[in-house]
Amino acid sequence: MEMGKIYNENCLITMGNMPNELVDFVITSPPYDDIRNYNGYQFEFEEIAKELFRVLKFGGVVIWVVADSTIDGSETGTSFKQALFFKEIGFRLHDTMIYYKMNPMPQTGNRYHQHFEYMFALSKGSPKTFNPITEPTKYKGLANMKNRGQNGSLDYEKVERTQEKKIGNVFFYSIGGGISTKDKIAYSHPAIFPEKLVADQITTWTNENDLIYDPFMGSGTTAKMAHILKRRWIGSEISTEYVNIAEERLKLHVDNNLFINV
Ligand SMILES: C[S@@+](CC[C@H](N)C(=O)[O-])C[C@H]1O[C@@H](n2cnc3c(N)ncnc32)[C@H](O)[C@@H]1O
Repeated sequence: MEMGKIYNENCLITMGNMPNELVDFVITSPPYDDIRNYNGYQFEFEEIAKELFRVLKFGGVVIWVVADSTIDGSETGTSFKQALFFKEIGFRLHDTMIYYKMNPMPQTGNRYHQHFEYMFALSKGSPKTFNPITEPTKYKGLANMKNRGQNGSLDYEKVERTQEKKIGNVFFYSIGGGISTKDKIAYSHPAIFPEKLVADQITTWTNENDLIYDPFMGSGTTAKMAHILKRRWIGSEISTEYVNIAEERLKLHVDNNLFINV
């Protein structure tokens, strides 16, 4: 397999050419429930799920980002069905994480605004890498016994200690033009990932030089973030139009070998 390449084909063909246990990590957003028409392409979920299990290393993780559409007044539940199918074929449902959109499209009618999508973290065995994102927590208290006072009392120095704790499994992102990415060309695709979401998941579940695969590469967000974070990557995208968009976008970052902060 060629690294750093988006294969312009059905991901089943790309994976068919991969040996068992090649990739360390998958992050992807499948074409779900015909919410959008990605140039008319369909996908064969069950075959793809089985191939993902085969090509993933033991200890590898798949981040599967999905939501349901509402048909005839009812949410389809496709995301749940997919999560349960992944379990049936051997994955662990390691964590049902939430991608919370700070500024979603407003909804009319008798439903609350749709603020989230699922990020199913599926693992083959126990995840071999976990670099949790942390945030500071302030612990105030007595620390560092200093000395015993003249009257025999213990004299403590009061210090403020800062510690780090893991963040929760709901990840919050602002989305939309100029926010999800600064690459204008990416918005020619109807459903791009926020770059920060991909960066957060990559840093959590992989280390430098690990191999990342995105079977539905779209505008190339996973490729861009993998490159910036110094991971190897491979992608598939069935639409030639989207591959062209992704390649144009990647030229800005990959060909110039420009590592930027996100
Ligand atoms: C939700 S979009 C992915 C967007 C991507 N995460 C991004 O940031 O741009 C899903 C993509 O899957 C592609 N696709 C659909 N069926 C496919 C298949 N069988 N193999 C490869 N790509 C496929 C569609 O053309 C579409 O671009």
